Amino acid sequence: MPRYALLVHPGHNRIYFETALAISQLELTALLQAAGQAPQGMEIVAQAGIPTTLRFSLEGEAMAQTLAAIACSSSCLGLFQVIEQDLLRPVALPQIGTFPEGMNQILRYSGKTNEQFTRLMVNLAKSACLSEGAQKTLLDPMCGKGTTLLEGLIRGDNVVGVEINDKWLTDMQAYLIRYLKTGRFKHRIKKEKRSDERGRKLADGFLIETAATRDDFVADARQKLQVFASDTRNCDRLLRKQSCDMIVSDLPYGVQHGSKTAAKATPAKGTITRRPDELLAEALPGWVRAMKPGASLVISFNAFTLKTDRAAELCTQAGLQVLTEAPFAGYAHRVDQSINRDLVVARLPL
Ligand SMILES: C[S@@+](CC[C@H](N)C(=O)[O-])C[C@H]1O[C@@H](n2cnc3c(N)ncnc32)[C@H](O)[C@@H]1O
Repeated sequence: MPRYALLVHPGHNRIYFETALAISQLELTALLQAAGQAPQGMEIVAQAGIPTTLRFSLEGEAMAQTLAAIACSSSCLGLFQVIEQDLLRPVALPQIGTFPEGMNQILRYSGKTNEQFTRLMVNLAKSACLSEGAQKTLLDPMCGKGTTLLEGLIRGDNVVGVEINDKWLTDMQAYLIRYLKTGRFKHRIKKEKRSDERGRKLADGFLIETAATRDDFVADARQKLQVFASDTRNCDRLLRKQSCDMIVSDLPYGVQHGSKTAAKATPAKGTITRRPDELLAEALPGWVRAMKPGASLVISFNAFTLKTDRAAELCTQAGLQVLTEAPFAGYAHRVDQSINRDLVVARLPL
C-alpha cells in the first residue's frame, strides 16, 4: 500500500498550534472519504524533530480525484510519497478550482475569518453535501466582507451572501471589481433589489457574473456572486426555496460584533445582543428553506457564548441531521482568551 506524507502549512500552527494537526487529520479524512478513499494508519510524524507531516496509506496509486482532494486540504503545503522512513519523493498536486488562491488573501480587515479555517469549513461542507448536480451554490448567510464567498468562487462554485452591515458589502464590491479588472477577468455587475409582498424594500444588493477564463465567460459558463444587505432572518424572503447546496458561515462571536436584535433589525444599524443562540434559532428556518435535499451546513461559533450542544440542538429542531461522528466532529480549538471556536456540520435529509 503506497504511503504518503502531507507537509502541513506552518500558518496553521501559529494560530492554534496544539490542536492544528489533529484537526488537519479529521479534515483530510473527510476529504479523502468523499473522494471514495479510506486512508489507513494516519499519524503525525516528526521530521528532524518537527511534527509537521501527516502520514497515511492509500489503496493503490493516488489518482487525479484523490490528488485533487488532498490539494484542497486547508493545511496542505505539499505532498510526498514515502519511499523509506526518511526518504520522500515530491508528488505534483493539481491547481484547485478556478480562480487564483490570491483572490482571498489580498483583502485584509479586522473581523475577517481566517482564510485557512474558512477553507476547512468549505471542505467539510463539500464532503458532507449529498445534493445533486455538479455546479454547486454556496450560501454564507452572515458573510461579512465575503471570505467564504471568495473561497467558493476559487473552488468553482456560485455563491450567495447576506450581511446586515451594508458598508461591508460596499467594500466587498469595490475590492472584487478592482481584483477582477486588475486580473483581466471578464465580468458583469448588476444591481439587485428585493421587496416584500407589500412592495416595501427588503434589501439592496448586487450580482457579479464572472469566469476564470475568457472562453468560459463567452460560452456562458460563468460563476455568480450575489449578495444582499439585510438581516439574515429575512433569508426566507430573499432566497429561492431549495436553491443552495451548502451553507457555510462563521457566526458573530458575541464578543466584539454581537448580533443584532429583531426589534432594531435594519440593514444599517441594530442593537447588540450577546445571545447568538437566539439569532441562530430565528435564522435557521429561513436557511433550511433555502437548502436543497442533501445540502450541507457548516457553522462555526464561539463555544463560550454558544455551546456546541445547543447549536446542534437548534439545527436538529430546524429539521437538519447533525453529523456527530469523526471526521465531522472534534474541531474545537482555542483562538484566543475569549474565543474557543467550534463548529457543527449538519445535512438536510434527502
Ligand atoms: C464573524 S463575522 C463573519 C466574518 C466573515 N466570515 C468575513 O470573513 O468577512 C459575523 C458577521 O455576521 C454579521 N451579522 C451579525 N448579525 C447579523 C444579522 N442579524 N444578519 C446578517 N448578518 C449579521 C456581522 O455584521 C458580521 O459581519
